[in-house]
Amino acid sequence: MQHFKSYENLLRQNKEWVAARNSEDPHFFKRLANLQRPEFLWIGCSDSRVPANQITGTNPGEVFVHRNIANMVVHTDMNLLSVLDYAVSILEVKHVILCGHYGCGGIRAAMDNKQYGIIDNWIRHIKDVHLLYTDELKKFKDERERERALVEYNVVEQVFNLSQTSIIQNSWQKRGGPWIHGWVYDVGDGLIKDLKVSMKENTNLPDIYKLKHH
Ligand code: CO
Repeated sequence: MQHFKSYENLLRQNKEWVAARNSEDPHFFKRLANLQRPEFLWIGCSDSRVPANQITGTNPGEVFVHRNIANMVVHTDMNLLSVLDYAVSILEVKHVILCGHYGCGGIRAAMDNKQYGIIDNWIRHIKDVHLLYTDELKKFKDERERERALVEYNVVEQVFNLSQTSIIQNSWQKRGGPWIHGWVYDVGDGLIKDLKVSMKENTNLPDIYKLKHH
């Protein structure tokens, strides 16, 4: 048996994947080469256990994806804002899915006081969520339960953060969409839980964040 280096395996598996796709559908790549028209923007965690397409059973071309540590929507993050604007204003996705996950290392790191490096400054945004939900989090005596709760509260807050962007508000005004959804993936059993905090057209948006239409 021939031995491949780990990275060479990826290239070999890519060829196998292409062969399998082509045998299922000879026009698969030709169709995708011409355009992408995804219905969904996925904002998820960089964690290797949470690959957007695989866990949702979707194919290339179906989901526009942005991932960062702990699926954060930081108001001045040009990377996130650029992806969001392109997906919402140009691709006109119907749904934005903000998906967190239980067992998130970023969330766990936000719950202690250790230093990890530059990332501490990113994780500070999660500490803001922690502070906002201090009273609710105190109710969870079990540390694991508290951590799972913070994962969920963080998703709720990032959904709100999305709704506060000029990008989402202008799109709501222009075309009544997209819907924003808050989900949590469980790395322990592979299932996604809908937190049922979906937002569309200014639902639950405090007045101070509402931007006047121009
Ligand atoms: Co994570």
